[in-house]
Amino acid sequence: MCGIIGCTGVKCASKILYKGLEDLEYRGYDSAGIAVLDGGKIFSVKRRGRVSEIKSGAEKLRGTSGIGHTRWATHGRPSDENAHPHTAGAFSVVHNGIIENYAVLREELVSEGHVFSSQTDSEVVVHLLNKYYSGDLKAAVLSAVERLKGAFALCILCEGYEGFVAVKYRNPIIVGVGGDALYAASDMPALAGLAESVAVLKDGQIAFASEGKITLCDFNGGAAGLSLSPIPAAARSTRLGGFPHYMIKEINEIPAAVKNTVHAFTEEKCYAALTRAAKKRGGFKDIILCGCGTAYHSALAAAYTAEELLGIPVRAETAGEFRYKKSAANSGTLFVAVSQSGETADTVEAARAAKGAGACVAAVTNVPYSALTGVADIVVPVRAGTEVCVAATKSYCGQIAALALTVTALKGRQAYIKMLAELKDIGAKCSAAISDCMVEAAARACASSSGVYFIGRGIDYPVALEGSLKLKEVSYVPGEGYPAGELKHGTIALIDGGTLTVAVITDKTLAEKTASAIEQIYSRGGRAAVVYASGCAPENLIERAEFAIEVPASSDSISPIVSVIPLQLIAYRTAVILGRDPDKPRNLAKSVTVE
Ligand code: M6R
Repeated sequence: MCGIIGCTGVKCASKILYKGLEDLEYRGYDSAGIAVLDGGKIFSVKRRGRVSEIKSGAEKLRGTSGIGHTRWATHGRPSDENAHPHTAGAFSVVHNGIIENYAVLREELVSEGHVFSSQTDSEVVVHLLNKYYSGDLKAAVLSAVERLKGAFALCILCEGYEGFVAVKYRNPIIVGVGGDALYAASDMPALAGLAESVAVLKDGQIAFASEGKITLCDFNGGAAGLSLSPIPAAARSTRLGGFPHYMIKEINEIPAAVKNTVHAFTEEKCYAALTRAAKKRGGFKDIILCGCGTAYHSALAAAYTAEELLGIPVRAETAGEFRYKKSAANSGTLFVAVSQSGETADTVEAARAAKGAGACVAAVTNVPYSALTGVADIVVPVRAGTEVCVAATKSYCGQIAALALTVTALKGRQAYIKMLAELKDIGAKCSAAISDCMVEAAARACASSSGVYFIGRGIDYPVALEGSLKLKEVSYVPGEGYPAGELKHGTIALIDGGTLTVAVITDKTLAEKTASAIEQIYSRGGRAAVVYASGCAPENLIERAEFAIEVPASSDSISPIVSVIPLQLIAYRTAVILGRDPDKPRNLAKSVTVE
């Protein structure tokens, strides 16, 4: 959603904050700002646009304490005024999250004479702080926080207080110590290279960082203990390393993402944790797999094979829908929440709802210290490494591997061991799919199409959905993903010579059926292409296709790991051909921490 950062005890705060905002920019990039304390007074710069827009302004700021923000707009369009920090009176504030009761608070504050300068929900926080401040910073923060409803991670500067305050409620914030300097940020990579030790704040905690020391209290003002641990190696800040974009770098990291995920699953004894949880409940009666966007697509892929393998009802749901369903889960349910970031509000809240209904909650996530892991009974690790590109690629493949291991672990040792063996070979297949893939012609075809439809049956349907999402997200070429049999029930009306339909075929038993759907497209003057697993597509389909891309075949439950790769590469190249920024597509942010 948004990225926030704070520091104190450094030589030049604005320099540290600017660099940190570059690392956090994937969390939102419609405006950015920095505020510093210089001689006990607050000075700030903020602008609409990318972080680079504030570079020259930031260079002029002096001071050893400060806060920074990079925004994904929720309330108020991207503009200079709506950019954070919001500064008024003695305070400056940056916020990640949503203040649900902001309208009521704003009305109250305006009636008391506070003058607002933005349309954001966040600005109420700075005015509340001023309202309650009479020289006691802690008292003001406690009173202000008590009034807030919603989700908020905050960093606060107060004139006369050489340091910053960090507040955590339902949105992430991590504090860190490096030498005499103290830090806070929305995620670990922004602290890598700065902090030597870190602590993930818990919901309802406030950190006062000043004069080389972080003091914690809860929302009632009671002291809380701070337990710092060395910053994990995996949180290393990532750099492009010679690649032109993170998207292509991260696609190239898929083999390592899958390998590390499998390793972590075995290391962290997930097999034992899952079977123990199942035994405790006398076996799970049903499974619900849940996520948003790409994570929903990996959940859907897992649901396809899990039901057949386990012989119990298994379904995938988008988290935003699941949350508001009555009696959707119960004590016999295994609820599997899938989320790269572990921060997506819909997914975290869906997991809370499932837990509240008595379900056993497993979190499949790439971020071990996330909000989702806090809710879960069992954590199933994805070890894709930090994913910077807004479009999920390597994390999707890691999720498919983690879910395949989860499902087979529930089936029993034999199935699990077999899956481990299959996953051993998948890295080489991914590498082959990446290096052999000739996507240039395919990307040019997509770039010049008025719409691109992706179709598949069975396990290829979730892959079609993911291929379509990826292309839309980074290239803005419209289209849809469809079950191959569904196209003829309406959407076929959109097919003409300007549209392209890409069939995904990795299941030989369904290939002829998908080929029929392609015939229907040709009969209506449409164009078609195919991405297929070796030996799975009919020859005449390959020969007539506008492009045909072959990938190594693998077993059903893990075939999406390989078959998605050409689709990711096509989306990437299409975006580049059309002059889009594949790493930071318009209107988006990496994690969506509001509903
Ligand atoms: O962090 P999460 O996996 O929970 O994020 C869920 C979606 O927002 C995410 O997958 C989104 O769809 C991606 N931008 C897709 O590339």
